[in-house]
Amino acid sequence: MADIQSWLARPGRPLHGVLDIPGDKSVSHRAVMFAALADGVSRIEGFLEGEDTRATAAIFGQLGVRMETPSVSTRIVHGVGVDGLRAPSRPLDCGNAGTGMRLLSGLLAAQKFDSVLMGDASLSKRPMRRVIDPLMRMGARIDSEEGGLPPLRIHGVGSLRGIDFQSPVASAQVKSAVLLAGLYAEGETRVSEPHPTRDYTERMLSAFGVDIDFSPGRARLRGGQRLHPADVVVPADFSSAAFFIVAASIVPGSELLLRAVGLNPRRRGLLDALRMMGADIAEENPSAQGGEPVADLRVRYAPLHGIELPGSLVPDMIDEFPALFVAAACAEGRTVVSDAAELRVKESDRLAAMASGLRALGIVVDEVADGATIHGGRIQGGTVESHEDHRIAMAFAVAAQRAQDEIRIDDVTNVATSFPGFDRLAASAGFGLDAA
Ligand code: S3P
Repeated sequence: MADIQSWLARPGRPLHGVLDIPGDKSVSHRAVMFAALADGVSRIEGFLEGEDTRATAAIFGQLGVRMETPSVSTRIVHGVGVDGLRAPSRPLDCGNAGTGMRLLSGLLAAQKFDSVLMGDASLSKRPMRRVIDPLMRMGARIDSEEGGLPPLRIHGVGSLRGIDFQSPVASAQVKSAVLLAGLYAEGETRVSEPHPTRDYTERMLSAFGVDIDFSPGRARLRGGQRLHPADVVVPADFSSAAFFIVAASIVPGSELLLRAVGLNPRRRGLLDALRMMGADIAEENPSAQGGEPVADLRVRYAPLHGIELPGSLVPDMIDEFPALFVAAACAEGRTVVSDAAELRVKESDRLAAMASGLRALGIVVDEVADGATIHGGRIQGGTVESHEDHRIAMAFAVAAQRAQDEIRIDDVTNVATSFPGFDRLAASAGFGLDAA
């Protein structure tokens, strides 16, 4: 996969099969981090073998944490305790992962040693002020490049103080960075958010024995607590499943069963949006896995129609807009997205990347500062750019399944950051998708 630069994608056959989607990226990052901080040995099952999450695991190796990989997607982590991390001898490379960099900035800001967090070209353009500012209020010392960009040079101040932080952005990464720093801070740290975001940090810290009080949109903890080891079962990543949910919804004759997909309430907004558009998605066998709700998703083709997406749904589907734009392009009528300016600071500017890609394929898209109107139509063949963004690449592979002609998708290596094996799994389900 790492060597494949471009895909040629075209309509395959109706999509069928029972698919196992790889583990959740957000949960995998946190599982490694918290297991590393625990007093003892933890086991992680279903770990995402993606570049982002492996980068985080490698960073903990540099920080002196021993990890074993007895089999694919399993990690045994020999935790060193909250005070057991070692000074790294080199900069810590987060790769493409905003989650890795932002969460680690909170954790490292509280250590006694200096460290440097760096990333790839895309991550080096992403805003870090949103974590630097609250961490500095806690007493951290962090230098960044002009405009608050990585690399981040974190000074080991060794002591922080708790704050009451009202986050201006709905961001689980910002909330988590502050909570991780709060674990080391004097007194209590409180975070509130303008809209509730995914609460994996809160749930998982609690599973690792931390006394943390949380409800949608708020969390607080006392500093100075220790973590017990815990075993984590990582559910299938909803954001990866999203591409297959949309694909089965738009390709006539399709029926896919996606097994045990994580349905955290703050992640499943795409299901609401697609159902408003007329999609046929059933949730079967609901259960819990590692403290998270999961269910099998049975998705059948259904004709879709455009909607005005309620702004309140945006944070609950923040990673799903590339997939939603494709559904909207195949829907009858127009779909209006607003309140979604955050999409401009993801792995790429996703509003611009999706608008220009869809336009190249003959779809009319009116782009505005915080959203876009997508006019459903016929997707033509053509060439599109991924903008080095995994989700843009996968979204256009889905779009191609309803295209009139072949679509060439350039620069797809970053798909391995979140979904290694996407191309093989997609082809097995019936996608027309080949290496160019
Ligand atoms: C994530 C939070 C979201 C999401 C990202 C993963 C996390 O980012 O887009 O893919 O694991 O906390 P923000 O918190 O910046 O919205």
